[in-house]
Amino acid sequence: MYTLANPGAGQKSVELMRALVYHGPGKKSVDEHAMPKISSPSDAIVKMVKTTICGTDLHILKGDVATCEPGRILGHEGIGIVHEVGSAVAAFKTGDRVLVSCISACGTCEYCRRGIYSHCTTGGWILGNEIDGTQAEYVRTPHADTSLYKIPAGVDAEALVMLSDIFPTSFECGVLNGKVQPGNTVAIVGSGPIGLAALLTAQFYSPARIIMIDSDANRLAVAKKLGATDTIDNTDGKAAEKLMKLTDGRGVDTAIEAVGVPATFVLCEDIVAPGGMIANIGVHGEKVDLHLERLWSQNIAITTRLVDTAATPMLLRTVVSGKVDPKQLITHHFTFEHIMDAYETFGNAARTKALKVIIEF
Ligand SMILES: NC(=O)c1ccc[n+]([C@@H]2O[C@H](COP(=O)([O-])OP(=O)(O)OC[C@H]3O[C@@H](n4cnc5c(N)ncnc54)[C@H](O)[C@@H]3O)[C@@H](O)[C@H]2O)c1
Ligand SMILES: [Zn+2]
Ligand SMILES: [Zn+2]
Repeated sequence: MYTLANPGAGQKSVELMRALVYHGPGKKSVDEHAMPKISSPSDAIVKMVKTTICGTDLHILKGDVATCEPGRILGHEGIGIVHEVGSAVAAFKTGDRVLVSCISACGTCEYCRRGIYSHCTTGGWILGNEIDGTQAEYVRTPHADTSLYKIPAGVDAEALVMLSDIFPTSFECGVLNGKVQPGNTVAIVGSGPIGLAALLTAQFYSPARIIMIDSDANRLAVAKKLGATDTIDNTDGKAAEKLMKLTDGRGVDTAIEAVGVPATFVLCEDIVAPGGMIANIGVHGEKVDLHLERLWSQNIAITTRLVDTAATPMLLRTVVSGKVDPKQLITHHFTFEHIMDAYETFGNAARTKALKVIIEF
């Protein structure tokens, strides 16, 4: 933060910070931006310490997310230090080290009372979308009491950046909705950060087999290291055939879709066994074929979900206790001065082998 040195006549001095700003499809820059201010008593201002880039930020930059308007500071993940709190904030004070959730939740509306925080009537996924986000020196976080989490002492805070979005997303939309069970067979279609976080959190339930599918050999090699029992390369589009062979024609109890294109959802329909679950995580921009002519008699269920982050407190405990190590998904580090390079690296993951990139302030 710094103050504009020579404000024009009649202008008040403005406190400025650096931020990554979206300027419409294909356009972004690091700008000097006015500091956020408390605008509701339940707000906090958080000084960011580390943030990251999400595949969804790349979707925004392609112009796929209509709710995100030009001029918006991007980012919905990260850790920081509370800089200021509104008069109604009771659980946090200046100086607290916090995890910022990608979902803001009031805690009292109908959806929040049902734990469906993603559909909070005055929150949900608004950070870095409908309001300014975390890829800035400071961010305003609405509903601070119910949207921030204290960073426990003794934990590697950098690992927690993975808990703003990708771990709760993979666990809630993939593992929980997919009803992963001990001894079951699970297929995860897509071995990006989301698919790999599903691989790590599926192991809480000791499935007998976890089959990872992708067309990127490096990501499949990482999956093997992180606990996949089998990997399938789908470069030739024959993953369904290969998986059926691998499972003696049976298919899988849980098929988790972690890509977001029609072909990979149809692949899940092709590999789900009778009585199985298809748990969709991917963000889909196109319509997808549902083959009810084949599936109507197969006793399957299909689930969809926007991450609620209701599992975040549980996931925090698993990180503190060492049951899971989210740091395994971090491949690159940049300082905020080099955030444009960070975008370049993350946006060319096949070449750079990037999974999650950390940006430090
Ligand atoms: N539901 C939610 O709340 C939520 C939250 C966050 C992200 N998401 C979505 O989850 C999805 C995955 O996110 P990510 O960051 O891991 O994305 P990513 O693009 O890094 O990973 C997708 C992977 O799928 C692979 N792939 C693409 N086409 C394939 C095909 N035909 N067969 C096999 N593999 C293929 C790619 O090689 C890549 O490794 C995205 O659609 C993202 O928008 C959903
Ligand atoms: Zn995200
Ligand atoms: Zn609410």
